[in-house]
Amino acid sequence: MPLSRRDFVSGLALGALGSAGAGEARAVEPLPKQRMQAASRPIIVAAGNGYEFLEGAYQYLKGGGDTLEAAIRVVAGAEDDPEDDSVGLGGLPNEEGVVELDASCMHGPSRRAGAAGGVRNIRSMARLAREVMLHSGHVMMVGEGAERFAVARGFKREDLLTEASRKVWLLWKEAHSDWWGSGVADPRWRERLQERLRSDDGAAYYERLQRLAEDLAIDPAARTAAIHKVLFPPTGTIHCSTLAANGDMSGCTSTSGLAWKIPGRLGDSPVIGAGCYTDQDVGSVGATGSGEENLRVLGAHTIVENMRHGMTPFEAGMDALHRIARNFNNEKERLLYVDMKYYVLRKDGAYAGVSLWTGYEPGQPHTIAVHDGTPRLEKTVSLFEGASQRWPPTPAQKVAS
Ligand code: GLY
Repeated sequence: MPLSRRDFVSGLALGALGSAGAGEARAVEPLPKQRMQAASRPIIVAAGNGYEFLEGAYQYLKGGGDTLEAAIRVVAGAEDDPEDDSVGLGGLPNEEGVVELDASCMHGPSRRAGAAGGVRNIRSMARLAREVMLHSGHVMMVGEGAERFAVARGFKREDLLTEASRKVWLLWKEAHSDWWGSGVADPRWRERLQERLRSDDGAAYYERLQRLAEDLAIDPAARTAAIHKVLFPPTGTIHCSTLAANGDMSGCTSTSGLAWKIPGRLGDSPVIGAGCYTDQDVGSVGATGSGEENLRVLGAHTIVENMRHGMTPFEAGMDALHRIARNFNNEKERLLYVDMKYYVLRKDGAYAGVSLWTGYEPGQPHTIAVHDGTPRLEKTVSLFEGASQRWPPTPAQKVAS
């Protein structure tokens, strides 16, 4: 019998398969715990959707290549993949149907950083973040100015909205979500939630979505996934941190942010210290998940500083998750609508992948992709057992679960 989302939330099961992007299930390292210590250097750690791109980057790093270029090769693999709707080409757009991308990077050997946020029409955001670092004299550029800078530096302008992502956006648009308003951090969150739950009939709304998906000629095989993205707007992101044999380290994070976001919204990914932070005297850390919550704890920097003061990668990451929980008075009922994953790499090759919840879906745990000679996906270790939910909730989410 298939597990319902509710079963998963109550912690009854954890599947043995992990999502590695593009909705495709892939075998996950069957170890009960992460190995936590690299077999040898170099080592690369990344979000699960970086798995496919580890090998080329690892061989490049092993051959003496630069640590930031290696991290960017992993991230760019996802940016160039039209099937990965979390970043770059084919990223899910903002509420106006425009793909707006964010990225940041840090180069350990030179102790430099670069970032670009809210950029349209430029696919290679990780490379743009590095270009800002190398050629602008600044650390962060945003919006139209960043786009013009990219074009001046030789990047190609292109329409990043693929047909598949456009149709999912149209489905969202036509079904119309009214998610502008308060978030789960609002002190009146419960009242707002109850109002919302009273206001729509889940089954009828779900049926309307199905009809609209048919009208939009969304491929029947892709329909359930499209409806799912409307009901559970994803915050897709990729991070990669690298450690070379000589101790050099770098990190890079790229994202299309939050599907259906208000134009101009920036999350954590382009913010140095939140979505990405590297100090090769200590380690390199990246984040994927609820950008707003990570911004409130500056997770990547916090974790690096925790390690500087003696915590292990696992303890340092868990401390940042506890800080997020504390921001919600540790109320699990509310934290259910938040999720966060940290990918932590220490300068000696010790690493950890930690998450607030076990996964977004039953049977699809959050994963960290690791390559230290053997590429693998490992489950993150979570603070809470179960699947997180998307904010704002609608009764139709229950029907979709
Ligand atoms: N973590 C991606 C975002 O919230 O924008």
